[in-house]
Amino acid sequence: MSPARLTDPIDLGSLRLKNRLYRAPVLEGAGGAEDPAAVYARHFVPNAAAGVGLIIQGNTIVCPEGRTSPGMSAIGERERMLALAPLTRAVHDAGGKIITQLGHGGLFALEAWHTKFAPVRTSPPYAPSPLPLWLRALHRSQTHVLTTREVQQLIARFGLVAAWAREAGYDGVQLAASNAKLLHQFLSPIFNRRTDRYGGDLAGRMTFIREIREAIAREAGADFPVLLKYTAVELTPIGRGISLGDGVEIARMAEAAGFAALTPVVADALPNTSIARGEFPRASFDNPGLRKRLLEATGSRMRAILVHVGMFLAARKYPFSPIWNRDVFRAVKAAVSLPVFAVGGIRTPAEAAEILARGEADMIGIGRPFYAEPDLARRFLAAGAPSTAGTACESCNRCIVPQMLGMPGVCYNPGSIRAARRRSPLRVLSDAA
Ligand SMILES: Cc1cc2nc3c(=O)[nH]c(=O)nc-3n(C[C@H](O)[C@H](O)[C@H](O)COP(=O)(O)O)c2cc1C
Repeated sequence: MSPARLTDPIDLGSLRLKNRLYRAPVLEGAGGAEDPAAVYARHFVPNAAAGVGLIIQGNTIVCPEGRTSPGMSAIGERERMLALAPLTRAVHDAGGKIITQLGHGGLFALEAWHTKFAPVRTSPPYAPSPLPLWLRALHRSQTHVLTTREVQQLIARFGLVAAWAREAGYDGVQLAASNAKLLHQFLSPIFNRRTDRYGGDLAGRMTFIREIREAIAREAGADFPVLLKYTAVELTPIGRGISLGDGVEIARMAEAAGFAALTPVVADALPNTSIARGEFPRASFDNPGLRKRLLEATGSRMRAILVHVGMFLAARKYPFSPIWNRDVFRAVKAAVSLPVFAVGGIRTPAEAAEILARGEADMIGIGRPFYAEPDLARRFLAAGAPSTAGTACESCNRCIVPQMLGMPGVCYNPGSIRAARRRSPLRVLSDAA
């Protein structure tokens, strides 16, 4: 078989994609908007028009209390999902395919740290088990350990929201099980010490995700593609997290459970920049407006300083390096016959071509660079020898702090915006510069 190329089509279960380039989920900040469909469309229609094979919309929370940032979409009722039908139509009309990511913040939901947007807690953040001692010191609020019945209600909720997504015209959904979100917390031996069917060994900790897959098949149809982005290696300051061996085993279980594709990533047990490696965003903390918003969000100088220090330490621990998840997606690809998605620090068409040519993954994901260069697919998919020219994105991570505070998901680096404009004067999407 000849090696795959970026321009080759691929099938994810019943979904045919015209090429192997996808927009990885990076939040758009549409959640609080009056017309979320219009905000999403401003991001995604240019991506589709430029030829990207698949767009994965940023994390949408299946019930309002699970948001981890104020700009995140939360689907409380069916109408809210159906209001996004104009978006899916616009993406399809532009020649694209779109799936939405479904998740829940669990322990790290907004209530855990945000005073402005969660001033009166309706319920404490959900947790699979009582918090480990070392985490109690960092966590602001009480947590609520989900009962077996509540876990089952959440599973049913994922099924329902996926069915609404299909009704709204999405081509599939992806479960968000990385970056320390609730589904990751269930997979993790650090967070999940349950003694019911949703805990125990790795197969037990995978039961939540497996039963969500089953609920989606029941509610949305067995042919509706369900993808999984998950923590295949969990890095933790204390204790033993998910190992690469576990990550590969999870992939095998996901294949048996009927998932259509997998995105395995390395992530910390805490929600930090391990998932989006790059620089410490000093400019965000130096900006008086952002400092004020952070203070309002956290409710005290002490907690604002904690966020600042946490981001500083994470940037030191997880500096950018090209294709940092390579060992993980390569190991998973060798173990399953499902399509495997690469993501994390892929910046040039030559890197993308090499991953595919070596058979290390089946799809190439790019996240942050889409903020400054919505039409980057045109360059990546251009005919001829794959270029070694990088994206305008410098992985400076200035997009992260505003995103935590509910501001638009755009590029906040004037240098990157200028570089992107030089390439494509009409297409830069930014409210920042
Ligand atoms: C501001 C921001 C928002 C993100 N939002 C999500 C998200 O909603 N869901 C998710 O799975 N990953 C999210 N990610 C992680 C990306 O999907 C991706 O894994 C990461 O940015 C690495 O890829 P990149 O180097 O191409 O940006 C986010 C990253 C950033 C920086």
